[in-house]
Amino acid sequence: MTFDERLLYYQDITEKQIKKYMDFSQEKQERLFQAMRYSTNAGGKRIRPVLALEFGRVCGGSIDAALPAACAIEMMHTFSLIHDDLPCMDNDDIRRGRASCHRAFDEATALLAGDALEMYPFEILTDCTNYGVKAENVIEMIRLLAEYAGHKGMIGGQQIDTQFVNCVFSEDDLLEMYRLKTSRLLQAAACMGCLSAGADIQYVQRAYEYGDRLGLAFQIVDDILDICGNEAEVGKPVGSDEKKNKMTFAAVAGISAAKEKARQLTDEAFDLLNGFEDSGFLKQLTLKLLNRNK
Ligand code: IPE
Ligand code: IPE
Ligand code: MG
Ligand code: MG
Ligand code: MG
Repeated sequence: MTFDERLLYYQDITEKQIKKYMDFSQEKQERLFQAMRYSTNAGGKRIRPVLALEFGRVCGGSIDAALPAACAIEMMHTFSLIHDDLPCMDNDDIRRGRASCHRAFDEATALLAGDALEMYPFEILTDCTNYGVKAENVIEMIRLLAEYAGHKGMIGGQQIDTQFVNCVFSEDDLLEMYRLKTSRLLQAAACMGCLSAGADIQYVQRAYEYGDRLGLAFQIVDDILDICGNEAEVGKPVGSDEKKNKMTFAAVAGISAAKEKARQLTDEAFDLLNGFEDSGFLKQLTLKLLNRNK
């Protein structure tokens, strides 16, 4: 398989499986189901599922074993985006090229769709046991996702983000915030992929380090795109950070220093992949994410 074929294949199987997981029968809470489907089916790069599936593969696991983790992490990520866009957070009206969830539905429904997409991943992860993943590894996947998404991880980072307005912070403070709000879910994806394959702890640790650097570079590039990107391409409002006086790496250090920092972090992530066999796809993906325009 070429790089592009594998990427499309991973995106496709994840989307099909998410649709299956969202195949709820008609109930009184149908509007909630619609909002959950609306946001998960809205496109998006599906980077986290791709990482879960590919780390599973390079660690010698099966696609079936990693697929629940791929769907779980994409739902968790989608929850973070729905809440991130709410008026009390970033107040953004466009997400993944269409109306954000609270605009397409209403705030209460968006809040609840986010809540539901935060819970469902834990139920889905238990599915791994049907594909030969040992119960102790499934427990570790559940623990890890809870920790990396929760108050010590992404949600904690989002809290710090809300305080990074109209104030002066050092570059290190910013990177610490990025590590929580962005790296943690990428790390969860990569580590869960390894765990689904029953990989040894040293591989899980390498995946953790890789996700750390990748996430920092990813958020710096996201901030650069918020300044220099094209709204039609990125699929979300450009200039959103400046409008809210958000302190981002690109705003604090300048675009060229931010680009250089993203490149350095990408190099580190790339080198960490040498700890895995057959890491050509992951290396190409890592470089592609640095040079993305959406
Ligand atoms: C956006 O993530 C939020 C950040 C952590 C920067 P993505 O850029 O992965 O968003 P989608 O999933 O492709 O829409
Ligand atoms: C990442 O930060 C947010 C999440 C953890 C969801 P941003 O607020 O910059 O993400 P975008 O630009 O809205 O996607
Ligand atoms: Mg935000
Ligand atoms: Mg935002
Ligand atoms: Mg952004």
